[in-house]
Amino acid sequence: MNILIIGAGAREHALAWKMAQSHHCDEIYTAPGNAGTLEFGTNLKIPITNFKIVKDVCLEYNIQMMVVGPEEPLVMGIYDFFRNDPELQHIIVVAPSAEAAQLEGSKAFSKKFMARHHIPTADYAEFTDDLYEEGKKYISQHSLPVVLKADGLAAGKGVVIAASHEEALLAFEAMIVHKQFGDAGSKVVIEEFLQGIEVSVFVLTDGESYQVIGHAKDYKRIGEGDTGLNTGGMGCVSPVPFMDAAFMQKVEEKIIRPTVEGLAKENLDYHGFIFFGLMNVLGEPWLIEYNCRMGDPETEVVMPLLQTDLVALFAAMDNGTLADTNIAFSEQSCATVMAVSGGYPGKYTTGLPIKGLKGAETGDSIIFHAGTQIEASQIKTSGGRIIAVTSFGKNITEAVAKSKKILERISFKGMYYRGDIGYEFRE
Ligand code: AMP
Ligand code: GLY
Repeated sequence: MNILIIGAGAREHALAWKMAQSHHCDEIYTAPGNAGTLEFGTNLKIPITNFKIVKDVCLEYNIQMMVVGPEEPLVMGIYDFFRNDPELQHIIVVAPSAEAAQLEGSKAFSKKFMARHHIPTADYAEFTDDLYEEGKKYISQHSLPVVLKADGLAAGKGVVIAASHEEALLAFEAMIVHKQFGDAGSKVVIEEFLQGIEVSVFVLTDGESYQVIGHAKDYKRIGEGDTGLNTGGMGCVSPVPFMDAAFMQKVEEKIIRPTVEGLAKENLDYHGFIFFGLMNVLGEPWLIEYNCRMGDPETEVVMPLLQTDLVALFAAMDNGTLADTNIAFSEQSCATVMAVSGGYPGKYTTGLPIKGLKGAETGDSIIFHAGTQIEASQIKTSGGRIIAVTSFGKNITEAVAKSKKILERISFKGMYYRGDIGYEFRE
């Protein structure tokens, strides 16, 4: 089978790494990919939101399966484009329909979906500019901290957790009046703050049945001890010690099953991943958000721990046999530590040579590339997040230590990584 992976990060490198192990896999193409995905096949430098061009490469390279990493093409309807084109209908597409992708593309849509299916989530209200005054009043009377969310996609920057009413009102004004996030912020969800520990659970679904393929805890802040600005993710660990059978049962009963049953009841066409962003509040799972894709860097620990053939799983998702598949996981722990550009998530430079990559990988570790590219046979930085070093260990502490050891051998100007990934679970 020839496979096309859409995306350019460490998530896509990890998906390529995993699918390349399948005997169903012939050729892997990644669009646009990075220096890491090149190891498994061909990079196609195409604009991934131009579906006509994606179609052309699918026909040219006889693609039989397409896996979509990032949210933008999903929310723009890449799935529907493929389903509605007779020349593309034979391709297995791992993605939700545009309508279902609103679970990620619109916070208001997803909150209403959760309410319809009685899924535990923070209480909320939504406001548009014609309700600006009511919104201000609602905020002024809200308990603190209060959470504000731009309705649409805002590249992970659309959430503000305000400690004071003044801060919340300023954030509200910035979204509604000053259009800080453009149209994405023309509607704002205001919700209760949930106090707890976050964890993400990943499911593959065909819209009727599902399989849990893993979970992870990520570290979003730039600074050690979870301080400073939010990033795309600085590292991840799995399994998370509190995700025992009893907690997982609650997650399935209260959150996953009602979601998948809700998709079926509402005829939402979904053949892909659901990323459940959860909060463990005193032992009870609450749903913060859905994403309709895998997480990054979560994929960099979920894929290494998953022992089932991913290509076979996608085929089962497509032919209605997902419920009958067996999922197996490694018994080990896994951690990934992300090395980022100096200055990230603020301003940073790119094009810096990365030293020490060659031969740095060991049997227990994998280097997944994020923002890298090759220029004149030299691997250089090309983004904010540069490489994710994943390691196995008998526990999280050991896995993190192995990744850090490898990172000590790799360098580029300004390179930074958090040394405390998994700190709550130290043994
Ligand atoms: P989201 O874009 O919905 O994932 O929100 C980004 C991050 O904000 C989440 O990963 C949480 O860390 C935090 N967050 C969002 N909503 C809440 C909430 N209701 N209570 C506490 N933290 C939240
Ligand atoms: N790591 C969070 C995300 O992929 O959205």
